[in-house]
Amino acid sequence: MYPEKKTADFRSVLNPKTPLLVSCRGKDGKNNALVVVYCCNCSFDPPMIMVGIVPSRHSYTLVKESGCFVANLVPANLKTQFDYLGSHSGRDEDKLTKLGMRIGEGIKINAPLLLDCPVSIECSVVSSVVTGSHEMFIGKIEYVHADASLVQDDGKIAWNKIDFLKL
Ligand SMILES: Cc1cc2nc3c(=O)[nH]c(=O)nc-3n(C[C@H](O)[C@H](O)[C@H](O)COP(=O)(O)O)c2cc1C
Repeated sequence: MYPEKKTADFRSVLNPKTPLLVSCRGKDGKNNALVVVYCCNCSFDPPMIMVGIVPSRHSYTLVKESGCFVANLVPANLKTQFDYLGSHSGRDEDKLTKLGMRIGEGIKINAPLLLDCPVSIECSVVSSVVTGSHEMFIGKIEYVHADASLVQDDGKIAWNKIDFLKL
């Protein structure tokens, strides 16, 4: 114990968080998306990311069954949609249609892209780990769709041009 420090809440301590909209598709062809902040890059080579989904979420079943998902990076102007997708379930309604979100097709996987997001990352699930409350789905990156205005000559994304939603 140090006199200038105090203990604090242990949960969700890694900050700032990276808010994602994870989009996925059911066996019935219906599209869905949820908010995920339990996520990170987890391999440089091959490029992989990890998203944590609680088993009670409708999207959990869709990702488990389809073995794929799209991680969409969230701009500040999608705050209303973000709040809705993170507080209502696709079990009860078609959230994406209700919100009027523009949907594209994955080119490597069978899952929807959210075209209103500046970057959408197609992933196939190669493994998963139940850590506790969340199951961490490890997704091999199959394709990255970025707004053309963001992609530099070397293929890298000009991250500083994106006005990201901050939590
Ligand atoms: C800020 C925020 C962060 C969230 N992070 C996660 C997360 O990392 N994993 C998760 O399973 N749910 C997370 N949620 C909750 C889901 O997005 C929420 O329960 C959603 O309604 C589930 O939708 P679904 O049932 O259609 O899959 C978060 C919600 C918010 C508002």
